Amino acid sequence: MAMLVCFIIINSIAIITAQPYFDDVLFDIQNQNRFNNYINGPPPIFNVDRHTQYGYVRGTSYNVDSRDSFYPKYISVFLGIPYARPPVGLYRFKPPLPPDPWDTKFLIYDATHYRPSCLQPASEQEKIRQFIPNFPPSNFSEDCLYLNIFAPNRTDRYMPKLPVIVFIHGGDFIGGSSQIYNGFVLAQRNVVVVTFNYRLGPLGFLSTKTLNGRGNYGLFDQRMALKFVYDNIREFNGDPENITVIGHEAGAASIGLHLLSQNTPLNFRRAVMMSGSDLCKWSIIQDEHYPLEQARFLARRLTCNDRNVDVLLDCLRQRNGLDITNSATNIWFPDEFGGHPWRPAIDTFTDDFIQPIFTRRPIELRRLGLFANISVILGTTSDDGAIHFAQQPINLAVIDKGFSHHDQHAYLNMFTNRRVQDRYSFERQTFAYEYAETDYVLPRGGDMYLDEEGITTVLKYKYAHWPQPDNMTMLRQRLIDLHSDEHTTCCVADAARFHAQRTFNSSYMYVFAYHSLTSVYPYWMGAPRGSELDYLFGMPFINDSQWMPWHGIQRRQVFTYVDEEISNYTMQLFVNFARYGEPTPGGFLREYTPPSLERPSGLIYSPSGYALRLNIAWLPQLVQNMTYLLIDRYPCLQTNYRFDAAGFWSEYWPTAFQRRLTPIPTKYYKHAIMNHRDTTIVMFFLMGGLILSFIILIILCGILFIRVRTESKQHTNKNIINHKQTKFINNE
Ligand SMILES: *[C@@H]1O[C@H](CO)[C@@H](O)[C@H](O)[C@H]1NC(C)=O
Ligand SMILES: *[C@@H]1O[C@H](CO)[C@@H](O)[C@H](O)[C@H]1NC(C)=O
Ligand SMILES: *[C@@H]1O[C@H](CO)[C@@H](O)[C@H](O)[C@H]1NC(C)=O
Ligand SMILES: *[C@@H]1O[C@H](CO)[C@@H](O)[C@H](O)[C@H]1NC(C)=O
Ligand SMILES: *[C@@H]1O[C@H](CO)[C@@H](O)[C@H](O)[C@H]1NC(C)=O
Ligand SMILES: *[C@@H]1O[C@H](CO)[C@@H](O)[C@H](O)[C@H]1NC(C)=O
Ligand SMILES: *[C@@H]1O[C@H](CO)[C@@H](O)[C@H](O)[C@H]1NC(C)=O
Ligand SMILES: *[C@@H]1O[C@H](CO)[C@@H](O)[C@H](O)[C@H]1NC(C)=O
Ligand SMILES: *[C@@H]1O[C@H](CO)[C@@H](O)[C@H](O)[C@H]1NC(C)=O
Repeated sequence: MAMLVCFIIINSIAIITAQPYFDDVLFDIQNQNRFNNYINGPPPIFNVDRHTQYGYVRGTSYNVDSRDSFYPKYISVFLGIPYARPPVGLYRFKPPLPPDPWDTKFLIYDATHYRPSCLQPASEQEKIRQFIPNFPPSNFSEDCLYLNIFAPNRTDRYMPKLPVIVFIHGGDFIGGSSQIYNGFVLAQRNVVVVTFNYRLGPLGFLSTKTLNGRGNYGLFDQRMALKFVYDNIREFNGDPENITVIGHEAGAASIGLHLLSQNTPLNFRRAVMMSGSDLCKWSIIQDEHYPLEQARFLARRLTCNDRNVDVLLDCLRQRNGLDITNSATNIWFPDEFGGHPWRPAIDTFTDDFIQPIFTRRPIELRRLGLFANISVILGTTSDDGAIHFAQQPINLAVIDKGFSHHDQHAYLNMFTNRRVQDRYSFERQTFAYEYAETDYVLPRGGDMYLDEEGITTVLKYKYAHWPQPDNMTMLRQRLIDLHSDEHTTCCVADAARFHAQRTFNSSYMYVFAYHSLTSVYPYWMGAPRGSELDYLFGMPFINDSQWMPWHGIQRRQVFTYVDEEISNYTMQLFVNFARYGEPTPGGFLREYTPPSLERPSGLIYSPSGYALRLNIAWLPQLVQNMTYLLIDRYPCLQTNYRFDAAGFWSEYWPTAFQRRLTPIPTKYYKHAIMNHRDTTIVMFFLMGGLILSFIILIILCGILFIRVRTESKQHTNKNIINHKQTKFINNE
């Protein structure tokens, strides 16, 4: 114990004495390099200890060149701070609990390296290896509730509390990791950046629709992490009243769901939803029975009892976490709703400690106006759906030329056919489990004959390019639009309308359309899903990994000067939003400087780092014209982003699947299994036949019986006579 205390004291003395030296070094460096100075020379790294409500954490401090004296001189990095108790064993499938404090033991938590990412299937692990090659499988663990803080620091003067950006990663609720988002560059813009992991897949979202297994553990993790940030960020130079959450894809959907939660403090002031919202078809499980049915299915795969829900949960808590994750892959779920069933589910349970996140379908809550009235930015990339083609490398060579009219129609036929078949399977399953409770065995299938040709015709009309119906590149673009619209655009636009109506003058929308000349994606893919994240996290400015031993992210492209500009621009917009609640306060792309004597307002009006073309005002959305900013080489304001497509997918598309054909003899009819009416008729005839044959049998039996009886009577009579005769003979 004494040694420990001694060590701490010596350490802090070392830090204090080392500081002036580092400031001098920095001063020299400053005058040589303008912005990107952390390329040169070995970094002065030293340890910094901060106090959290659970104890001290020790992170590392890195010096960066600050171009002028307003920028931070150091970025303190604290990695892998536990914000909840490890959700393992008995704590699995439960909302998170606070971590055990460690401060009583005079221990300092080592926050100098990342902790494990959450368990996920192999296919998702591969996606992380695209960013961090050789990411070891052992660095995925069930014990994964950790967060990372990137805090700017100046050692030479008083720092006002800085705005905080908390990033929630995407990954379709089944994959992803906070480790592939490095907040080091963004933090140099005078904001505190926080990233964190939350539980994924079945471990995060298995629900049995009971209080014991209420589901949404991943969302409760997020709530807990936000609470931790709110309670502790002051120690890291952050302002707890100025917290902005930024979520991407599943993260954006999660933020949308948090906005719907009533009676719970949000712990953030502003929100940015990138490429997703709570209104997306894939953001929750719409069906009421499905979660329990999936839990049972999983239990059977792991040889657990699937009848009693509490026994089921206890049994699953004893299984290996990795086994659960692996068994939960390849569970069928319609593509349209995301392709796997581990998603947030409606939660109607209120216990005294943990309020539910959302108690009704998001669209109902939104229509009732039951969502938080805070400033938001919503947005998407212009070619979100191109990721669909990027994931099939075989096709790329073919698609490079574009789609012919014939190919496009074949693609649309296939698209509709898959959707229709999915609906049939889904309906059959629904039918099966509704009756599973009562042990009825009924024929599956129901009266389901969708108008597949009709649906395809509408799609062909909607996604044609009418000015030039045979233009191959445009037909390809329309297919990309189809996937973007279905998956993302429609729900982003819908959510944007709700916010524009309610949050007057402080709801913004962007469309990121920038395609780098050196991008890893072909030019025709434009800006696929997630392409804005490189720019938000300042990837063009990250060069050397030896400066950050924990960094490990591989640059996937060589960035150009224009990429750097766009990255500068994107960071500035979102940082301004986090700081002022407006991306371009007063109509200018302003740079922030802490208030000083010369500049009491703390604003610089004509930032030198930006080209004039970037300095345009991003106006809030008004319901009249739904203004949005198109972020590209030449950004501009435009209006009404693809609202017709949003209407098509949100309003028309679901009705197309309610319209059923009457069972006239079509090809569906011939291939379909028997429907109810058929079965009833068959059953009627079968029963009739059975009863008839029964009656005949009884009659036959009766006749036979009577005949046998009369015959045997005659027989016995004869026998008696015989007897008498023998007796008589014997007596003689
Ligand atoms: C994996 O975990 C180990 C031990 O915590 C750590 O040293 C290593 O850097 C991690 N690797 C990656 C790629 O994060
Ligand atoms: C900022 O630097 C000072 C001096 O080195 C240090 O005491 C303090 O802990 C640092 N703050 C943060 C948040 O890193
Ligand atoms: C948020 O930060 C801005 C800029 O530093 C400041 O003007 C504002 O008062 C802060 N908001 C709150 C609620 O503290
Ligand atoms: C197809 O349309 C694009 C965009 O409108 C245009 O640039 C291209 O020249 C057209 N191609 C043909 C073959 O007309
Ligand atoms: C939402 O908040 C804004 C600004 O605080 C206010 O002007 C507006 O009236 C609020 N809207 C509703 C519906 O409460
Ligand atoms: C909202 O913005 C419009 C147009 O910029 C402006 O005319 C109006 O006064 C603003 N309303 C509020 C409540 O700020
Ligand atoms: C990193 O910086 C060095 C020195 O400025 C430069 O030579 C090198 O090309 C950079 N690497 C990348 C990947 O940009
Ligand atoms: C990026 O921003 C920094 C700071 O505002 C500026 O010094 C630098 O010149 C900018 N770089 C580019 C390429 O615009
Ligand atoms: C949207 O409408 C408002 C008010 O009618 C107007 O001031 C603004 O210029 C319009 N925006 C665009 C991009 O046309």
